[in-house]
Formats: sequence, structure tokens, C-alpha cells
Amino acid sequence: MSETKPQAKVTVNTFRQMKQKGEKISMLTAYDYTMARILDQAGVDAILVGDSAANVIHGWPTTLPITLDQMIFHGAAVVRGVNRALVVVDMPFGSYQASVEQGVNSAVRIMKETLADAVKIEGGARAADTIKRITDAGIPVVGHLGLTPQSVNAFGGYGLRAKEPAEAEQLYADALTLLKAGCFAIVLEKIPADLAASIASDIQIPVIGIGAGADVDGQVLVGQDMLGMSDMFRPKFVRQYANLRQTITHAVKAYNDDVKSGAFPSSDEQY
Ligand code: KIV
Repeated sequence: MSETKPQAKVTVNTFRQMKQKGEKISMLTAYDYTMARILDQAGVDAILVGDSAANVIHGWPTTLPITLDQMIFHGAAVVRGVNRALVVVDMPFGSYQASVEQGVNSAVRIMKETLADAVKIEGGARAADTIKRITDAGIPVVGHLGLTPQSVNAFGGYGLRAKEPAEAEQLYADALTLLKAGCFAIVLEKIPADLAASIASDIQIPVIGIGAGADVDGQVLVGQDMLGMSDMFRPKFVRQYANLRQTITHAVKAYNDDVKSGAFPSSDEQY
């Protein structure tokens, strides 16, 4: 009888080895136990408990309102659903901007109260001291550059970043700064594909893209977007692999009709 071998847990070392071997890393967001279990069993390498939970779960227009307590609540639920994937929890707006100490304390709370594998922080040079201190504390950190949604008000919108040479140069320098600060991976969001490709080829840690082209070390998308659950948000970098909004709507309409007509429950569905 053939036994299925339990799959080895993805760790920061797995990420390092995948980069060395040129194996692409797949990452999706999740915010709850049920979805995390499905994504993990389907084989994604990493699950990001993104602060995009503010938008897709809580209905806020930006990621700014979500709190550290709420991120911990979502992170702990996701971790309970995962056996193999590496779980990364976003540090939300207001949990690290005030000081290095605030950042370290927030990262420690996330690790202690969720049992996640790593945290993610937005920002380049300005976040470097905080990232260094968090990694010194033994906490793996993913950096995040380009369109960093916590800075939407400073950017004046969600447009493409680093299209001008000065911002592209700054972003490239920021990627090197994050590498030196100790990040084990970097997310690059909504930047020109050639810039992302040159960063991925020049730095030794995995670069995970979202709207950053194909020539990077992995891809991340918001789970709800690629599953087609929203009728509001469809940027060009999202490939929709399912239309769950339609599937769920059909199922709910059928249930509603059956309840009203008395077709549900049947005699087989009662005690
Ligand atoms: O919060 C999030 O979902 C993210 C991804 C878009 C990278 O940061």
C-alpha cells in the first residue's frame, strides 16, 4: 500500500533554496482558517495574511484602518489551517511607524500570538532600522516596495510606481537596503517589469511580484481577486482563475428558492 509522505514545511531556508534553484514561489493571501486550509492543501508555498484584509474582509476603502489586534486575529486563524505553507503576517499601519521599539514590540506580538513564520513591513530606507532590529530578535521579515498601500495618501492614489528614473533608482537602492537590513524576501508591487527583473537578478533573496512582471522569483495575488469573488476590483495584473462570485450567487439563489418552495429540506435531510 502506498503511503502519502507528509510534505515538508516551507521555511526561510526553502525560500533560499528555491531562489538558488530558480524554482518559482507561489504565494496567495488568506485571512481565515477555511481558506488557509484550502490554499495549503492545494500546494501554495506561502500564505500572506495581508493587511488587504482591511479591504476584502472588513470593507474599508484603504488598508489604513486595520489594527494590530485584528491582524493577529486573522493571522492566528490562518496558522491553525496550515501544515506546509510559510505564513507571513502583515504589520499594519500604525504598528511600526512611531519608533523602532514599537515595530519590534508589534512583530513580537504577531509571532507570539499567531505562531506565524514571518512578518511583512512596507517601506525602504525609512523602515531599515526597524527591520534590522526585528531580524536581530530572530523574526524573519519580508520587505515590501513599490506600491505600498499604507502610503496611498502620500502617493495620491494606487497608480504604477517607479516609472520615472529617479523613483526607479531609489527603489533599486531600497531593495539593496532591505537585503542588508536582513529581509529574507521582498514583495515588489505594481512597478515596471524590467525594473523588477533587474532587482530579482541582482539580489540574493527571493523577489515576489504583484503587478511586477514574470521575471521575478515568485508571484503573490489577493486570494479573493484571483478567485473572482469581488465585483469591484479588477486591476490588469490580476488573472481571474475562477468566478466564485457567480458560483456562490447561483448556489445561494437555489437555496433561497428551495427554502421558499419547501423543496429544502427533504425527508433525507431530517431526523
Ligand atoms: O496586503 C496584501 O494583500 C499585500 C499584497 C498585495 C502583497 O500586501
